[in-house]
Amino acid sequence: MPFTTITGIGHYVPKNVVTNQDLTEVMETSDEWIRERTGIEERRYIDRGKETTTSLAVEASLRAIADAGIDKEDIDFIVFATLSPDYYFPGAGVLLQRELGIAKTEIAALDIRAQCSGFLYGLSTADQFIKSGMYKRILLVGAEVHSVGLDFTTRGRNVSVIFGDGAGAVVLEATEDKDISVLSTTMHSDGTYAEKLSYMYPGAHGGYFIEKYGIEGFDVDYNLEENSYGGVFWNQDMLDKGRVFPHMEGQAVFKMAVRKFPEVIMEALKMAGLGIEDLDMLIPHQANLRINQFVAHTMGLSEDKVYNNIMRYGNTTAASIPLALSEARDEGRVKKGDVVTLAAFGAGFTWAAAVLKWGK
Ligand code: UT7
Repeated sequence: MPFTTITGIGHYVPKNVVTNQDLTEVMETSDEWIRERTGIEERRYIDRGKETTTSLAVEASLRAIADAGIDKEDIDFIVFATLSPDYYFPGAGVLLQRELGIAKTEIAALDIRAQCSGFLYGLSTADQFIKSGMYKRILLVGAEVHSVGLDFTTRGRNVSVIFGDGAGAVVLEATEDKDISVLSTTMHSDGTYAEKLSYMYPGAHGGYFIEKYGIEGFDVDYNLEENSYGGVFWNQDMLDKGRVFPHMEGQAVFKMAVRKFPEVIMEALKMAGLGIEDLDMLIPHQANLRINQFVAHTMGLSEDKVYNNIMRYGNTTAASIPLALSEARDEGRVKKGDVVTLAAFGAGFTWAAAVLKWGK
């Protein structure tokens, strides 16, 4: 049975830097609050109408493909993780296939909707396809454009200051050499908390779950009758009430994250037959520097064993792990033979981890 190895990696972020100070011009917030609570100093936003989730993914993919030294036509499967696709449908995978100029290959393109865990859900999925022998060269991408969907008034400040745009990609190939491969992957979810971090409109639910579970801060007094064949997905009333923005109960997410990260990291290490002492580098999802510092402290990991770049990019959801892994490789923080653990927690709730031996 073949193993999966990363043969190419790349990342891309938009050029437009937005500092915490810039955000104070549109909402009541401060550089001090953002740094203290999240560690974030700046993030990148796309040039609207000129860049998209797919276009960021294209740049990251081309870098990963060049790094792998393969032709883009050799890719036999695309896996695209994002919560901010360019279209509600079709998915981002087919757009990426077209924009890479490889539509004529007619390879399959799969979209993954597991938010912050999306890249690791994608890695686990791709790993199974390679192990089964079905595919040999998979392009796995995490890309997000948050900046076009955030509430930039004070009402949305608890969410908006955190997120940024970016992309990361890897080329995964089959290998016989276990010593340079993905050693374990694990995925979890608990839908009990689905709305704690969510973007519910547009959606087909028409208020159903809000009524059923009494979701804090939401009501169903939207005018669903008016224009009822077109307006339940979303309507003017929802727009006026500011419902068409992400919703996050930050403390609930934080508390669960710091519990689940250590659990899932230990689970993935155990599956790989390793312990925490074998770990050379932990690359956690970049949601909040304080979460990552808490996890490192709980697990007794020194600072040099945890890679963080949230200070410069904010939370880029599905892009954050490949973006961090790519930068860590470029900076020489991840070297051939290193045991690297990737771990994520986010909306759903979903959480996941993977352990690999770096082979580049
Ligand atoms: O990647 C997806 C996973 N997401 C996460 O893991 C996020 C996890 N959660 C968090 O990182 C934190 O909960 C946040 C950074 C989102 C918020 O930090 P917090 O310490 O939990 O703040 P809070 O929401 O409890 O709000 C504390 C105060 C409130 O004011 P009052 O009610 O105490 O007067 C907020 O209104 O801070 C206020 N606040 C802000 N103030 C200035 C909230 N956002 C801001 C802001 N600037 N941007």
